[in-house]
Amino acid sequence: MSIFEQRESNIRAYSRVYPVVFDKAFNAKQTDEDGKEYIDFFAGAGVLNFGHNNEKMTSAVVDYIQSNGVTHSLDMETVAKRTFMEKFEKTILKPRHMDHKMQFVGPTGTNAVEAAMKLARRVTSRQEIVAFTRGFHGMTLGSLAATANRYFRGAAGVPLNHVSHYPFGCEKPCMGCESGCGQANLDHMRSLYEDVSSGVTPPAAFLLETIQAEGGVNVASKEWIQALATLAKDVGALLIIDDIQVGMGRTGSFFSFDDLGIEPDIICLAKGLGGMGVPMAMNLNKPDLDDYWSPGEHTGTFRGQSLSFVAGTQALAYFDDDELMNQVAEKAEVMNEALAPLETNHANIQIRGKGMIIGLDVNTGERAKMIVEECFKAGLLIASCGTGGRVVKLIPPLTIPDEELQSGLATLVDVTQKVMEATA
Ligand SMILES: Cc1ncc(COP(=O)(O)O)c(C=O)c1O
Repeated sequence: MSIFEQRESNIRAYSRVYPVVFDKAFNAKQTDEDGKEYIDFFAGAGVLNFGHNNEKMTSAVVDYIQSNGVTHSLDMETVAKRTFMEKFEKTILKPRHMDHKMQFVGPTGTNAVEAAMKLARRVTSRQEIVAFTRGFHGMTLGSLAATANRYFRGAAGVPLNHVSHYPFGCEKPCMGCESGCGQANLDHMRSLYEDVSSGVTPPAAFLLETIQAEGGVNVASKEWIQALATLAKDVGALLIIDDIQVGMGRTGSFFSFDDLGIEPDIICLAKGLGGMGVPMAMNLNKPDLDDYWSPGEHTGTFRGQSLSFVAGTQALAYFDDDELMNQVAEKAEVMNEALAPLETNHANIQIRGKGMIIGLDVNTGERAKMIVEECFKAGLLIASCGTGGRVVKLIPPLTIPDEELQSGLATLVDVTQKVMEATA
């Protein structure tokens, strides 16, 4: 028995899906200790948007360490943090005329969501948060209350209060509306909030992913998200966008909502923010809301992650021009073209996504599991998500070389064809 089987907690999960010991990684490839190479279509669940060991980032980090740069600083001011903040302001905020404040939190996504929920409750003096069916927002108690998945919620051990879930986007049943636009659900919510005898009061905030990643790559329409933003404004609730998995360029622009015409009050970022897999999380709060925080109220030891600031600054340089985002658009097209025949040939397959997050919904968790296993054997790392794990999710590094993208897609299509035939 390996040390992992002997001593690592039963909680381990991904190591069961990919039962080898990984040793090296570069850009979109990982190599196990026996030297077998794998193309990575998983990218650390959306962390490694700029690839494993991105050379610009590794050399910046090595230089920083060798010059005795401060590695840990709580939330003290450091040169590394200043450089990151100035770069973020110049590259991301100013061009969008965003005056949001940057709130660094403990370096995981769940911590960002916790902070966002606290702030929304503080600002509005309301307790309830509205999240959505199939949403995933993290595993600590506050964010877990907003996470929809029953398996994860079951581990809480205490009631998960003060969050209610409403249908996401055009999810059926859409209150009798057959158009699939989701508007009827929002109309229903509005009527409840407006009716003083409904027993339903407006929430502190609406919390959502524009594209539900773990929930099965569910893409809400622009119209639905805009209508939700209007509803939030009308009922005095905040709009919190959790861009933790689908931000940082994944959909073809820095924020997943750049083309949606909304102005979120709070934006949660994590995962890819530290550039090369070193952790960092940050909320962007509208300044009038941010004023509600008192110093240190949502503190945390690891809020001054210098190595993440250094690597993250390099990541932001990818947004100085359109080169990477143009590549994302091209690669997304390649991905969709390669997968399209699967949808045409199999009534049980549906493809969804935006930019370089694509879900292959194969209708059952068993099928998706077989596909993931067979892909792994064939040298492709890919994972499943969605209800019962029925969606195979493609989130390769945005920097994946064309040949590796093509090769990974060929493997996936071949394996999926065979699994569909075997399970027909
Ligand atoms: C949209 C979204 N929010 C929050 C989280 C939680 O992030 P973390 O696992 O870093 O706590 C995740 C993680 O997958 C996520 O995808």
